Amino acid sequence: MSEEAKAYTDVLLPGARVALFTRDSETRDSFLSLQQDWRFARVELQTHEGDVDTAINAYESQPSPDLVIVQTETINEGFSGRLEVLGGACGDHTSAIVIGPVNDVNLYRKLVGMGVSDYLVRPVKAATMGNDIAASLIEKIGETGSRLIALIGAKGGVGTTSLAEALSWGLADHMQQKTFLLDAAGGWSTLNVGLNFEPTTTINEAVRAVTEQNEDSLTRMLFSPGERLTVLSSGGDVMLEDLVQPDGFEALLDRMMSKYPVVVVDLSGGSAALKRTTLVRAHEILLITTPTLPSIRATRTLIHEIKQLRGGHDDAIDVILNMVGLAPKSEVPKKQIEEGLERKAAASVPFDPGLFIRIESEARKLGEDKSGSDIVEKLLPLARKVLAGTGSESSSAMSEDKGDNKKGGGIGNLFSKLKARS
Ligand SMILES: Nc1ncnc2c1ncn2[C@@H]1O[C@H](COP(=O)(O)OP(=O)(O)OP(=O)(O)O)[C@@H](O)[C@H]1O
Ligand SMILES: [Mg+2]
Repeated sequence: MSEEAKAYTDVLLPGARVALFTRDSETRDSFLSLQQDWRFARVELQTHEGDVDTAINAYESQPSPDLVIVQTETINEGFSGRLEVLGGACGDHTSAIVIGPVNDVNLYRKLVGMGVSDYLVRPVKAATMGNDIAASLIEKIGETGSRLIALIGAKGGVGTTSLAEALSWGLADHMQQKTFLLDAAGGWSTLNVGLNFEPTTTINEAVRAVTEQNEDSLTRMLFSPGERLTVLSSGGDVMLEDLVQPDGFEALLDRMMSKYPVVVVDLSGGSAALKRTTLVRAHEILLITTPTLPSIRATRTLIHEIKQLRGGHDDAIDVILNMVGLAPKSEVPKKQIEEGLERKAAASVPFDPGLFIRIESEARKLGEDKSGSDIVEKLLPLARKVLAGTGSESSSAMSEDKGDNKKGGGIGNLFSKLKARS
């Protein structure tokens, strides 16, 4: 699996059921060790002593899981035949992975051609199995390759909202991506000023529309300031009241990720609970800071906390140094920042109050003039990084259908293919 694909699977996986049929204790141990993998917190892992026939028996009488993994010692026509029967016994939603004894490219191609997501050769390491199961679940139930980009400030007022807007415009205008920008700030949101819309709804109402599956109502809550950019026209929330619960917010994120290939979340005014929920799901985290001592200290702590939240991984975090030149004599030198944060800033944005405050108060796009467009250009490599491997750079089509499997498809597919042939 490539590094890009690996980064793609480095997210909290959707709730799903995965069943393994094997007689091999090593495979079973690798599989069960995934219970300790943070990405699998919502994945139910079931093991069964047996093989493809045991799986057929099981799913002829009970509902099949999201993913079935069968290990076999013999790969021959007989096995292919049994796999077809398994395809018939499983529902359309079920994907399959086969673990076999030999490494054989032709066999791999044949199985994939039959609708199997992947073929692995025993012994299978836990890490390999984890990444393959993750990729398979994301393909199957995940958000059809949609990417979630979270922007969080090391502290208040560091420019998180300004840069979330600039990045979203960059994605929409420069990269032709259908982009959704969500502000987690509720009544504290300033997005309506920067994007010039009247707040007509609240995050709470949007969450209600999602949970009640009221599409018409949700559609009325959306505002498009540009051809490919859409936002929730929230901000009407009461400032001094608590916002939604994290699970409601997550349902809103899921809904938007099923419709838009890129969802940008501005966490600058969000509660700690919404920050956690989004940070754990995000494919890319842009941590905005300034070159001043309090900001850099807070950045260091925040990196540490996000890393813990994501099971010890910090590779999805990129630091953006904003307002560089704000107080040249008192700023922390670049080298010290690198040492303190144990990483280089992924981008540096100059302090330019004339530009930023004019853009903000006139509700214009940062990229409209030369110095602003230079800043947008600096942010785009980060967007490219997160879109790599999705194929979405070439396709800006709106994907309405969650079950639209471009790759592989379920083993139930195999059955429908066979039926179509006969
Ligand atoms: N590089 C910059 N140079 C000058 N001013 C900037 C820069 N970036 C942002 N600003 C300005 O700083 C102010 C705060 O920015 P913004 O609202 O984006 O910050 P925030 O981190 O989202 O704040 P909050 O914590 O309130 O959500 C705004 O007036 C904005 O125009
Ligand atoms: Mg803000």
